[in-house]
Amino acid sequence: MPILYDEQRRCFHLSNDRISYIIRLAAGKYPLHLYWGRRVRAVSDDLLSRLCSYTDADFSLNETPLDSLPQECPVFGCADLCEGMLHILHADGTHALDLQYVSHQITQGKKPLRGLPSARGEHAETLTLTLLDRVSGIEVELLYTLWPDIDILARSARIVNGGASPAVLERALSACVDFEQADFSLLTLSGAWARERQIVTRPLVPGDQGTSTVRGASSAQTSPFMALLSPGTTETAGEVYAFSLCYSGSFTASVHVDQHAMARAQIGIQPFNFSWTLMPGDSFQTPEAYLCFSADGLGGMSRQFHALTHRYITTGRYARSARPLLINNWEATYFDFDEDQLLALARCAKEAGIDLFVLDDGWFGHRDADNSSLGDWYDDVRKLPHGLAGLSEKIHAMGMKFGLWVEPEMVSPDSDLYRAHPDWCIHAGGRPRTEARHQLVLDMSREDVRDYVVTQICAAFRRARVDYVKWDMNRNITMYGSARLPAQRQQELGHRYILGVYDVMRRITAQFPDVLFESCASGGGRFDFGMMCFMPQAWCSDNTDAHTRCRIQYATSLVFPPSTMGAHVSAVPNHQTGRVTPLEARAAVAMGGTYGYELDLLKLPDDELRQIASLNRRVKALQPLLLYGAFYRLKSPFEGNETAWMSVSEDRREAVVTHVFAQAQPNVRPSLLRLAGLDPSLDYREEKTGRVYGGDELMQHGIRIEKPWNDYRAQQFHLTTVSSSAPSVPSGRE
Ligand code: GLA
Repeated sequence: MPILYDEQRRCFHLSNDRISYIIRLAAGKYPLHLYWGRRVRAVSDDLLSRLCSYTDADFSLNETPLDSLPQECPVFGCADLCEGMLHILHADGTHALDLQYVSHQITQGKKPLRGLPSARGEHAETLTLTLLDRVSGIEVELLYTLWPDIDILARSARIVNGGASPAVLERALSACVDFEQADFSLLTLSGAWARERQIVTRPLVPGDQGTSTVRGASSAQTSPFMALLSPGTTETAGEVYAFSLCYSGSFTASVHVDQHAMARAQIGIQPFNFSWTLMPGDSFQTPEAYLCFSADGLGGMSRQFHALTHRYITTGRYARSARPLLINNWEATYFDFDEDQLLALARCAKEAGIDLFVLDDGWFGHRDADNSSLGDWYDDVRKLPHGLAGLSEKIHAMGMKFGLWVEPEMVSPDSDLYRAHPDWCIHAGGRPRTEARHQLVLDMSREDVRDYVVTQICAAFRRARVDYVKWDMNRNITMYGSARLPAQRQQELGHRYILGVYDVMRRITAQFPDVLFESCASGGGRFDFGMMCFMPQAWCSDNTDAHTRCRIQYATSLVFPPSTMGAHVSAVPNHQTGRVTPLEARAAVAMGGTYGYELDLLKLPDDELRQIASLNRRVKALQPLLLYGAFYRLKSPFEGNETAWMSVSEDRREAVVTHVFAQAQPNVRPSLLRLAGLDPSLDYREEKTGRVYGGDELMQHGIRIEKPWNDYRAQQFHLTTVSSSAPSVPSGRE
């Protein structure tokens, strides 16, 4: 039983073999946060008093010292003086809340969250702590789920208006942890289009810090993730407390360091531009937050998040299986294509061993540029005289799978849909509608809009007999306003939009259980666990330049495994940076994710096509390991001229190591790269050289990296354990 309740001490102990999380009910009514970290076997009196210097006697009727105590669900308005998890406007205009324990439940598994994506609860146990504000009747359920096999706790809250008057949620976060000290660095991921998820680390300082967005999407600029690193934390050592949110809309992840140098870490829906009216009897479910503790540095944290993704987040046929090698026509043709061109490209791809042909933007309405036709999901017969059906049939006849790009959440002002339903987009009354990429955002809070989208998109998928879908979303929300919502509910639109998107995704993906879905938002503009619950992979970035992509994929891997990261080989000079990198480097970097191509193969010389065919055979052979192996980052592109990572099989008998140099340097010696995750007692043979190394040698001494003779040199090592007949004395060292 991972969750125990000690009635005498009024203490909840959530634990598995490696971590503990302890909550104590102070004075029987306020849930205090006592401990989160490496497992403790039991909660002794000593531990209780060491972890919390306050006794029940300190809680007198009118003087609760909550301001200086670590709490599980702090709210401003009782005795707490900082921003807490909730802020609720009562009908009388006041905000006070005094949430006190009324009951708890410990149950097997975990229920799905209403309207929201969430992790599956197989093998897990859930604690529900119910708190009540007796004056208003507001009830709060705090949900905690712990799995036996991952060091992650899922948290969320459900708020029920059990009173007789309406109440307005102005802030409803998912999780809060009050640390009794603030000696941490804060790591967050910031970026921009084509520069998504760059690592930013800084020490905590008194006051507020964190990361957040108001863009209506988890965004390219920020990520719903933050980690607190204890001093000296590295990839392999140090205690890390990380937070990630299963949500795709505006969010906040913040840390407040108070007068006593206590750190309050919180994560949830962005309170700015948000409110939600709860009529009597209504409830509101917050998104799920994942709290990960690692005693093994950032690498340990990532492997826990990766295990969460593979075991409890991604679903469907492709969640744990090989992904088809794809070619996408976007950078080969952009909008300018016809059926013959596409078929010629597909034929060439098939010969090179590519499995899936993806038709990107421009196949519908009269879309010759990005300024029309979104919403009109019918085939453009000028480009496809036999429609999607005809093209798909021909591609399938080649023995290839067929995939399609759509952007279901959008509408172009130049479209039949917009002309028929100008009020179906998000807009603020009679104000001019701000376009971005010449498009407007459909109001997914409306059921009629969602029904239209589901019908049209499913019809296109059926016509095309799709095996794969790229679901794009290319702009953020401005001019918030819905023609359907009453004035006092307009601030619900941001969250209702995301709930609407989830509803549409749920309905569509359910109708196509064998189709591989990849999400995209101008690249990696919505790369979060919410999307991952519906679609097991996401286009990591529009940036396909092997050099700068290293950073994006390296940082993305902090939370997400390679199986989730769409990564393609593209043409040189690169379309985003103009950089020329060798094919091996582009392929090595793309092998760090779900592999594919985004270029015109017909323009390549024969020797490059042969090289691509051989790369494809290699990717297929190594794919299970590359996508699902235990992932170790070895060299950070944020710290130097090299990037290196490796994947190790579950039984530690096979590994693939990838090393990429950026700029070549003159007159440098070969270097050594220390590996990780191998079995020190086993010997490994490197595929290309045939050399045999001890696992201990590879991890303690390293493998030799030749000095680069050209910029962006990539090297890959495939290691497999030698059979018992092979020499037991390692002979790799020179
Ligand atoms: C976005 C995507 C690209 C491509 C274009 C098509 O920018 O990120 O990969 O699909 O849209 O318009």
